Amino acid sequence: MAKKILVTGGTGYIGSHTVVELQNSGYEVVVVDNLSNSSADVLDNIEKISGIKPAFEQFDLADKAKTDNFFARTPGIEAIIHFAASKAVGESVQKPLMYYRNNLVSLMNLMDCQVKYGVANIVFSSSCTVYGQPDVLPVTEKTPRKDAESPYGNTKRVNEDILSDSIAAHPEITGIALRYFNPIGAHPTAIIGELPLGVPQNLVPFITQTAAGLRDELMVFGDDYDTIDGSAVRDYINVVDLAKAHVVAIARLLEGKNKKNYEIFNLGTGNGLSVLEVVNGFEKATGVKLNYKIVGRRAGDIEKIWADTTFANEELGWKAEKELEETLLSAWLWEKKLRGIK
Ligand code: NAD
Ligand code: WQD
Repeated sequence: MAKKILVTGGTGYIGSHTVVELQNSGYEVVVVDNLSNSSADVLDNIEKISGIKPAFEQFDLADKAKTDNFFARTPGIEAIIHFAASKAVGESVQKPLMYYRNNLVSLMNLMDCQVKYGVANIVFSSSCTVYGQPDVLPVTEKTPRKDAESPYGNTKRVNEDILSDSIAAHPEITGIALRYFNPIGAHPTAIIGELPLGVPQNLVPFITQTAAGLRDELMVFGDDYDTIDGSAVRDYINVVDLAKAHVVAIARLLEGKNKKNYEIFNLGTGNGLSVLEVVNGFEKATGVKLNYKIVGRRAGDIEKIWADTTFANEELGWKAEKELEETLLSAWLWEKKLRGIK
């Protein structure tokens, strides 16, 4: 019988790509999402790719009674992948209480239910934001975390601590925190992808919206960093590669291959790219000329970060495979599909 996996936030950007990969690997998926940052149409789009519409429940995981009720009537869940969270860095500065409540309480409710209903395994979406600006690059999982730059970033740090402390107290639970670097791109079918609300804060959606004519020009934030061309450097990882890492992490837990009850993995490509390199890569991949101008640095940005992926490569047996241009092309095909551009 197929193993049943709960995917919270499964109609969101990374969650939807992961649902497809889980289904392709033979797992049965149940999605919980409150649709605060996604839409139920995504379930139909998942079905168009995988042939299977996942079971779906719409409720807020910060609501303890509803979360408990869900587990009480949904037996057989063997593992949770917890994507559900609010993720806009700027908004978290304006609404810290909302971010702490949503992101921390959701995880606490889920872990209470893991203990109560005997759900042994959890994979958690963490972020390279926990490293801040590292003193040494690339960053390994042993690189010390730094004080968060935003309430959002702090929720990732505190949630990692909630996981680690709770797993220490409940040895029947095993968990993996995956620290994503910068996820970009869309499914190669262009049937699912990222759906930013309002003006995109992230680089690649801003690029594709500029290319599509929704924005006049991209502002490149800073050209005076100590990097190859002065623009800031990040480790951009294809969302399908990222999704596949979740399938590997789930199998590791279900097969008991984990070495510790709580493990942490960096998920990136291992390559740092500057903003201007991404802009050039987009133009090369798509043949579309991008309007852009250099402006001052964005407050709160770090200069450069990229992952040391050795631990994920060797221990998980997972490696990011897609090239930058293929990934940027997938983002563009998705944007064109959304806007009805031929
Ligand atoms: P997303 O907003 O597309 O998906 C998150 C989903 O969770 C949304 O569908 C939203 O409706 C849902 N959700 C939020 N709060 C909920 C709640 N209380 N109850 C039920 N559902 C709720 O975001 P994403 O980019 O797919 O990110 C997924 C996870 O990965 C998040 O935890 C995010 O912090 C983390 N992450 C994202 C990035 C990135 O750049 N996208 C980088 C590092 C980490
Ligand atoms: C990438 C680079 C910008 C937009 C954020 C969160 C982080 C994580 C991923 C969740 C930076 C530059 C951007 C633009 C630009 N999310 N840029 N013009 O800042 O690395 O990380 O998303 O955990 O927590 O902080 O990603 O895509 O916003 O920016 O020049 O219009 O592109 O300055 O150097 P970032 P990003």
